[in-house]
This record gives sequence, structure tokens and C-alpha cells, in this order.
Amino acid sequence: MTAPSPTAAPASPSADAGALSAESIARIDRAIAKYPPDQKQSAVMAALAIAQQEKGWLDTATMDFVARHLGMPPVAVYEVATFYTMYDLAPTGRHKLTICTNLPCALQGATRAAEHLKSVLGIGFNETTPDGCFTLKEGECMGACGDAPVLMQNNRKMLSWMTPERLDQLIADLRKECAK
Ligand code: FES
Repeated sequence: MTAPSPTAAPASPSADAGALSAESIARIDRAIAKYPPDQKQSAVMAALAIAQQEKGWLDTATMDFVARHLGMPPVAVYEVATFYTMYDLAPTGRHKLTICTNLPCALQGATRAAEHLKSVLGIGFNETTPDGCFTLKEGECMGACGDAPVLMQNNRKMLSWMTPERLDQLIADLRKECAK
């Protein structure tokens, strides 16, 4: 994934393809209010999550909007968005599956589970199936190492002990959802 150019921010907030809805801005402002007035930028992760919930993914214009709203250099926002795997810098499929491949999980079957997912879905990491149903991502430790292999579905649902058999069942269930 390529980080956007740090010079890509529009000069003026007025020509703003990345503008968020009033509802999202209000949510971001509530996140900002949790921090001292001179540390608005501490809300950047929450702001990016809210922006992604509204837009589906984070394009440069949206990250620039967040940067302006928080009074941050755009490049500082890009750094956050490109570091954490829960942020998507390209459109994803309906079901984003992020499998932890860090060492504790890798030692407990995650490598095999990841290869199984690639094989069953016919895609690699950071790819989306042609039907738009699945995007596969490689994630960092999700704090549930004892439950390995661990999978996060759409950034919010943690799934534990994902053996190939359980993965097959998950994929079959989600494929049915996508077919509706
Ligand atoms: S290493 Fe995978 S959840 Fe911690």
C-alpha cells in the first residue's frame, strides 16, 4: 500500500471532496473534547475510525479533512492511517477478514490458517475477491494470543480458534450473506 503524498492536501477547506457529515464531525468533536484543548491531535485515531465508518475507506481528501479539523499536518495523519491495519486506504469487500500472523499466533496455527484463507478465497493479503465479498488482511497482535488463530471481521468482531474447519464454516456463512 502506498502512502499518499504529504503535499496532497487541498489548499482550502472549501473545495472539499473529503468533507464529512455533520453527524461525523459532531462525533469527532466529542472525541476531541476528551483531551486538553491544545492536544486535539490525540483524537486522530478516533477521527479516522469515524471517517472510515462514514466513507467506507480513507481516501486522501478525507484524511486531509481530518488533518485540518484536528490542526495536524496531513502527513502526520497519513502516518497513523498507514501504520494501523484497521484503516483502509482502498475500498474493501463487504467482509474484511484480518488474521493475526504475529509470532504467538503463528506458533499456534495462524500461518496455516492464513494460507488456508488465501487458498479458499483465491486472493492474497490486501486483495479483494472479484465478487466484492471478501478482503483479506494481515493484522498485528489483537491481544488475544491465547485464542490463536485469531481473526477480526470488519474491525469489530473478534473470532477465536479459527482452525481451517472453522474458517470454512465462516466463509460459507458469509458467502451466503453476500449472495442475498
Ligand atoms: S499474537 Fe495474535 S493475538 Fe496476539
